[in-house]
This record gives sequence, C-alpha cells and structure tokens, in this order.
Amino acid sequence: ATPAAVIVAIDGPSGTGKSSTSRAVAAQLGLRYLDTGAQYRAITWWMLTNGIDVNDATEVAAASGKPSIVSGTDPRDPAIAADGADASGPIRTQEVTAAVSAVSAVPEVRARITGLQRAIAAGAGGGIVVEGRDIGTTVLPDADLKVFLTASAEARAARRSGELKAADGSAAGDLAATQQALAQRDKADSSRKASPLKKADDAVEVDTTELSLDQVIECVVTLIEKAAAEK
Ligand code: DC
Repeated sequence: ATPAAVIVAIDGPSGTGKSSTSRAVAAQLGLRYLDTGAQYRAITWWMLTNGIDVNDATEVAAASGKPSIVSGTDPRDPAIAADGADASGPIRTQEVTAAVSAVSAVPEVRARITGLQRAIAAGAGGGIVVEGRDIGTTVLPDADLKVFLTASAEARAARRSGELKAADGSAAGDLAATQQALAQRDKADSSRKASPLKKADDAVEVDTTELSLDQVIECVVTLIEKAAAEK
C-alpha cells in the first residue's frame, strides 16, 4: 500500500509535540488528520458555556449526547465546531484546559466521542492520522501503525508554556507552575478508569526529549512508509 492508505494512531501525554507532528506528517503524506483532544475540549467548552457543572459526573453524562461535535480532517485547517459554533479558539483557553480531564473521564462522554472518532476514521476514504491518548489501545486497536510519543517532564513543560503564549498571549511565565499543571492533568488522564492514557503493547515508542520537531516528523514519516510497505 502507499502511505496515503494507512491508519496511524499517535498517542502520548501533552507537550510531546503530538499535534504538531501529527499535522505535519498528515500534510506531508496526503493523509487526513483528526485531533481527538480537540473533540474532548469542544464538548467541555460546550458544557462550560451551557451551565453544566463539569465536576458533576451525572450531569456531564446526561448532557454528553446533546451537542453536535463536528471535526474537519484537513491537516492544514483542523476545524472544530460544537453545536454549529466554531470552537477552534475557545477550546485552547485555560478554562477549558483545566476542565477537560474531568469531562473526558466520564464514560458516557468517551463512548460518544469514541463513536465519532471511529466513524471519521472509517469514512476517511484512505489514510488518516488520529492523535490522542487512547487511540492505539481503544479507539483503533487495528491501526496499521501505532506511535507513542514521550518526553521528559521538563521538555514537555517548556513546550507547553510556549504553546500557551502562542494561543492566548498569556505570559504563561512560571515554568514550574506549567510543569505542575501538566503533571496533574497527566496523572488524571493516566489514572482514570475509562480508557486511560497508556502505551499500546504494539506501539513504537519515540522519546522526543532530545529531538527537534523536524526530527520527530522525519522519524514518524519513516515509520509510516515502512508500515505502508508492509501492508
Ligand atoms: O491533547 P489535548 O491536550 O488537546 O487533550 C485534551 C484532553 O483530552 C486531555 O487532558 C485528555 C483528553 N483526551 C482523552 O482523554 N482522550 C483522547 N483520545 C484525547 C484527549
């Protein structure tokens, strides 16, 4: 098969360069692209703006089927909308970031979003890069290639505070605070009962601590070409 016909799962914690890598790789190889974190963020944003108490799992579960969540799959323009409203900006705010772990831990939310993800992957008409936390373990266990990105806590915090600055111009400033917030979210994402962040047994682990973004992209492109040749 050609690289454009493979299903790729890219998982890992935040700050590993997962989104930048996934988008670039998909654009380079002519694959579709799905940012599953954006879907969890979009439903979280919808809940926050519709008066749902995000810390009340029963309330969150009851509302989980309400908004439409529509994701574009163009790696050059990854659009996301909740109930028809463009969510691309608001999903990157600190308010959403702080609430998303609680919302995404609710099984009804995961079931809803996982269903959307599988439908998008099935309808991609060829290959797609799907990026998240549980893609290789739960959403697409039959993916042609599974990549698990890691990086040291320091490297991840440094990248994350750079992203924060770019997203909302916040001073982000305190690296130690960013590192702590990140560690807290990772812990919540890794220790939840429903489909936690975890490396699939058959995933290729890539430690990005000492790599530039271009090096990570090159590494993943090579892995995809190899998986395509074997398919
Ligand atoms: O990758 P991100 O920071 O945009 O993800 C936001 C949150 O969504 C993250 O804290 C965990 C959750 N998430 C998840 O539970 N499962 C996924 N497949 C992707 C994200």
